[in-house]
Amino acid sequence: MLVIVTKFLLIALCFYRCSANNVSARYYPRYHLAPPYGWMNDPNGFCVFNNEFHLFYQFNPESSQDPGIAHWGHARSADLFHWEHLPIAMYPDRSFDKTGVFSGSALIENRTMYLFYTGNVNFPNQYPERVQRQALAFSKDGVHVEKYEGNPILKAENRQPHIRDPKVWKHGNTYYMVLGNSYNNHTVGRVLLYTSKDLVSWTEASILGESDGSMGYMWECPDFFELGGKFVLLFSPQGLEPRGDKYRNLYQTGYIVGNFDYESKLFTPLTEFMELDHGHDFYATQTTLDTRGNRVVVAWFDMWEQNYPDQQDGFNGQMTLPRYLYLTRDFRLLQKPVRQVSNIRGRKLYSGRAKPNNVIKLDDNSAEIRVVAARLKNFELLIESENNTVSISYDYRKGKVTLDRGGNDGVRRTNWRPSLKLYWQIFIDASSIEVFCGNGEVTFSSRFFPTGNVSIRVGDDSQADELTVFKLKRSVDVPDQ
Ligand SMILES: *[C@@H]1O[C@H](CO)[C@@H](O)[C@H](O)[C@H]1NC(C)=O
Ligand SMILES: *[C@@H]1O[C@H](CO)[C@@H](O)[C@H](O)[C@H]1NC(C)=O
Ligand SMILES: *[C@@H]1O[C@H](CO)[C@@H](O)[C@H](O)[C@H]1NC(C)=O
Ligand SMILES: *[C@@H]1O[C@H](CO)[C@@H](O)[C@H](O)[C@H]1NC(C)=O
Ligand SMILES: *[C@@H]1O[C@H](CO)[C@@H](O)[C@H](O)[C@H]1NC(C)=O
Repeated sequence: MLVIVTKFLLIALCFYRCSANNVSARYYPRYHLAPPYGWMNDPNGFCVFNNEFHLFYQFNPESSQDPGIAHWGHARSADLFHWEHLPIAMYPDRSFDKTGVFSGSALIENRTMYLFYTGNVNFPNQYPERVQRQALAFSKDGVHVEKYEGNPILKAENRQPHIRDPKVWKHGNTYYMVLGNSYNNHTVGRVLLYTSKDLVSWTEASILGESDGSMGYMWECPDFFELGGKFVLLFSPQGLEPRGDKYRNLYQTGYIVGNFDYESKLFTPLTEFMELDHGHDFYATQTTLDTRGNRVVVAWFDMWEQNYPDQQDGFNGQMTLPRYLYLTRDFRLLQKPVRQVSNIRGRKLYSGRAKPNNVIKLDDNSAEIRVVAARLKNFELLIESENNTVSISYDYRKGKVTLDRGGNDGVRRTNWRPSLKLYWQIFIDASSIEVFCGNGEVTFSSRFFPTGNVSIRVGDDSQADELTVFKLKRSVDVPDQ
């Protein structure tokens, strides 16, 4: 008992000491969820429990410079903006998860939070070099998490070493789990479907999706849900080659829309794979339903192997704005910022028409910008700091929208045509930009690392019929310095 209490005290102490000491405010988000210190990657266990959102994440409490050995960090929020950091939910403390409590999801039933995750064990310089098994944990109070004694619940060693990221849901009296997998000796990405009657014993039911050879060697972080009468398979493939404007990031996140038959367990695609976001930093999505039945998505707002400068500031990584997902009649996903963004909307910094070179200084490097402009004219908006500029531009002749953050590999571009007017909604935070075009049919999520104060400027040959700039208030604990 004493040992447990002491351990808990030490954890609590380190939690506050580490968070206070090392982390610098310059790139720390004002309203996006970031780790209190250390390294964050994939969102995990996104759910609503007792009317609050819970978001877990891949967390390295030891260092902000590398992913280390994954723990589950944990935060909760009533509105998806005001986040409270909770104690680390899971440590890599079992033989089957000793080199990583990897990604997974949550299922709420009978006032209990059931958490599914991948236990990772590395075997350096051996073949196979790792073993991944699926495990279960649960929480009655939404804070203290206990691992199930009978773990692991699913060993699928015939499925090869890369099998991970369980996403679980219930339909009728059956539980369903999708898993990301790399097959054929790490050459073919796919998503496997398993079923269970009791959450602990699982049977393979079907292969939901599989690369045809051109779609990557590994499909990570699968999510599968009904939306607008169809089913969406959302996942993060690794190993896609760039094709024109597509697939420019190291790894991608996107979706396939189709029909799913709960009897045969087969998914029949109606579309090709489409990227969900067109910016530099959007990966490993996870969705949940809110209490009103909206499908909410978040992504890791970062990308592997970028070595962004926030790593030097005692923390790394953040989550994107939470967004509602909608399905159009032609089977494309729309993304809209969740309505709770109104909770952080502050005073208006500007409102009116805007001429070329109109400059608006932001307050605290944090703002929501809305632009309405002519459909048949080019338009450019610049986001500027002392040492860098990000350009967001529309080329009406080509029907393309471009985000250019400068530097090496700065350009991301995709096809987009406004229907009546050009409409953009843009969110700036201390080290990030999110652009929503039109009804959310195209988004760009990219990190940028400004020096000093940020301002926005309307481009040389551009004018806006309406430009509105709101300050966005701080809703997370930003470090002092
Ligand atoms: C915080 O700083 C201390 C002392 O410099 C260092 O030992 C520790 O690893 C740092 N923690 C993080 C999370 O970067
Ligand atoms: C929740 O309770 C119902 C009714 O007692 C039971 O049938 C079901 O198995 C329980 N679910 C879990 C996950 O234990
Ligand atoms: C898979 O690849 C590794 C090295 O890349 C090789 O040692 C191993 O024999 C291969 N296994 C199969 C089943 O092809
Ligand atoms: C701006 O300064 C920051 C901090 O020194 C640096 O990380 C970033 O790379 C700089 N950007 C450019 C475009 O020089
Ligand atoms: C940045 O803006 C703040 C007020 O928002 C001001 O106090 C500060 O002097 C500005 N810094 C620079 C370098 O202009």
